[in-house]
Amino acid sequence: MLKRKVGIIGAGLVGATTAYSLAMLEICTEIILYDIVTDVAIGKAIDIEQSTSFSSKATIINYALTPADMINCDIVIVTAGVPRKANMTRNDLLDINSKIIKDVTKNIVKYSPKAIIICVSNPLDVMTYLMYKESGLERNRIIGMAGALDSARMSYYIAKKTAMDSSQIKSMVLGEHGEKMLPCPTISAISGVPINQLIGKSDIDNIIEDTKSGGATIVKHLKTSAYYAPARAITEMVSAILNDSKVIIPSSVVLDGEYGYRDTTLGVPVVLGRNGVEKIIELPLEESIKTQLDDCVISIKDSIAILS
Ligand code: LAC
Repeated sequence: MLKRKVGIIGAGLVGATTAYSLAMLEICTEIILYDIVTDVAIGKAIDIEQSTSFSSKATIINYALTPADMINCDIVIVTAGVPRKANMTRNDLLDINSKIIKDVTKNIVKYSPKAIIICVSNPLDVMTYLMYKESGLERNRIIGMAGALDSARMSYYIAKKTAMDSSQIKSMVLGEHGEKMLPCPTISAISGVPINQLIGKSDIDNIIEDTKSGGATIVKHLKTSAYYAPARAITEMVSAILNDSKVIIPSSVVLDGEYGYRDTTLGVPVVLGRNGVEKIIELPLEESIKTQLDDCVISIKDSIAILS
């Protein structure tokens, strides 16, 4: 296997669980963790590498003591920033996390100039846009992780409602990673059969509502954000990029005319491969969905405007 180096900035619950998930799936040769609290990065790197002693393929887990130690990564995953607490929306994190993201982006461009960046920090769509602006990189190299997670949550609620095996459920959630996200039942399917042909309207409405509040439900119980499903969703994106597998994964990306929008990020279906975003898929959308997407864009652009 050629060198496949993945940097993770922020070794908190999401960052460290992502490192563990990547190591368990044996898809990189090296993972390097950086955290503002150096001991956290060191301790978790040692612990995770020791866990790979039971794996068939080794993954080296290193730690960076300074941003300059995280060099020449193929992919950098940014989980840095403050997670939301009970009664907070993702937008409440705008101010504090934007300062962190600006700093982090500068370092990535400097020390891993060829990297594809996966942004996970919230508010996700706005932080992804900020990274695009601050980095000066081509838009295919900046990808926000949201749709993969929200779609996994939708599949979970479909599985609960139908008692069907979740591995055959493929869901599609578009729009923002926030209250206005758009779980789309007509393009979510169980083994190819759209769910609106299998379950009734009131069940679908419940699935949509549960998906939208999927993250908040976990925050309510844990008093902090989710991390197992986010980490697994990130792993799926990393795998698609490193393996150049051209998988369709809804992600938050910078639009330049697609769906009629520009100068914004938005969660849309994209093909992921070696170059990051290989293609943005433009689906023909029902009028009602398009109106809701307009709302998402207004909300994301409002937050972008606050930043500048
Ligand atoms: C969530 C965080 C990762 O939705 O935004 O759980």
